[in-house]
Amino acid sequence: MEYVRLGNSGLKVSRISLGCWIFGSSSPAYGKPGKVSPDESVRIIERAIDLGINFIDTANRYTGGEAEEILGKAIKGRRADVVVATKVRGRMGLGPNDEGLSRAHIMREVENSLRRLNTDYIDLYQAHSVDWDTPLEETLRAFDDLVSQGKVRYIGCSNFPAWVLTKSLWMSDINHFVKFISIQSVYSLINREVEKEIQPLCVDQGMGMILYSPLGGGLLSGKYENGAPEGSRGAVEPHLLKIANHFDDGLRVLKEISLEIGKTPAQVALNWVIHRLAVSSAIVGASRTDQLEENVGAVGWKLPQEGIQRLDEVFAR
Ligand SMILES: NC(=O)c1ccc[n+]([C@@H]2O[C@H](COP(=O)([O-])OP(=O)(O)OC[C@H]3O[C@@H](n4cnc5c(N)ncnc54)[C@H](OP(=O)(O)O)[C@@H]3O)[C@@H](O)[C@H]2O)c1
Repeated sequence: MEYVRLGNSGLKVSRISLGCWIFGSSSPAYGKPGKVSPDESVRIIERAIDLGINFIDTANRYTGGEAEEILGKAIKGRRADVVVATKVRGRMGLGPNDEGLSRAHIMREVENSLRRLNTDYIDLYQAHSVDWDTPLEETLRAFDDLVSQGKVRYIGCSNFPAWVLTKSLWMSDINHFVKFISIQSVYSLINREVEKEIQPLCVDQGMGMILYSPLGGGLLSGKYENGAPEGSRGAVEPHLLKIANHFDDGLRVLKEISLEIGKTPAQVALNWVIHRLAVSSAIVGASRTDQLEENVGAVGWKLPQEGIQRLDEVFAR
């Protein structure tokens, strides 16, 4: 495994990280139901750590809090080896203050996350997306307080438009608050939206990009070539097949390149994305340990320039 600094911070994270979105068996009132049983989820997390993954991402909202509990259980006794990232923002109850980035909601939810994760600190606390109903300064001041209190070590954001991120950095500067060190964004061969504004901003400001859905939900593994395999995400989310059809040419070239260099399409797609500018880590999801084992094979080598060019051209922006 390779470890790099998360943006300009001193925190070192593995190039491939693990996401907990689908971990748990509950079907929460808000958000998606889980896909992987708690016991199997613990096994996947333990395997990830054994493979050198030190960076694990979750959110208060994933499987209604169950995913955080599973992560807390899996890292018991190994807490210091893991960089735990979680998020706040999503709806967690029916009340008017049961969602968002208000000081009230953040202060309550951080305690809930700490309890579920069975830890006394969160390495990276992220705003899951913008809360248009709360002044940014209120959110940033609450985050700054959490760092001062030692409950949170670093802060980041996710799904922020470039102008809101820029405003956040400026607001933290003028108020002497700690600043976001990272942004978590969707980025892969099939979704290159961040290249327009977020990525140049991250390069300029020394922020680390943490990528979600780097395999396009599994599509870039090439497994939807002949329809959706049983049990796959595409079997329950048919839009994945439509996207696969749309990127037909790209998926064909991805497969050709992977055969030429003796890697799998998933490894090539991940290798392409982790070497993009400002990228620190790609968060992969895995419903089985063999997927994870394959995905960590994306690290420790570099796709030849000619292959990068072919992929860039065929998966045009
Ligand atoms: N900040 C946000 O708003 C946000 C949004 C989405 C996700 N995330 C984070 O990002 C993480 C990853 O997101 P994602 O699950 O969409 O990522 P992804 O890595 O693009 O897709 C993961 C899925 O692809 C399939 N897969 C993975 N490796 C494979 C392989 N080698 N061969 C075949 N299939 C493979 C598995 O699905 P099946 O086996 O079910 O087909 C797996 O669950 C989440 O867990 C979460 O932590 C954050």
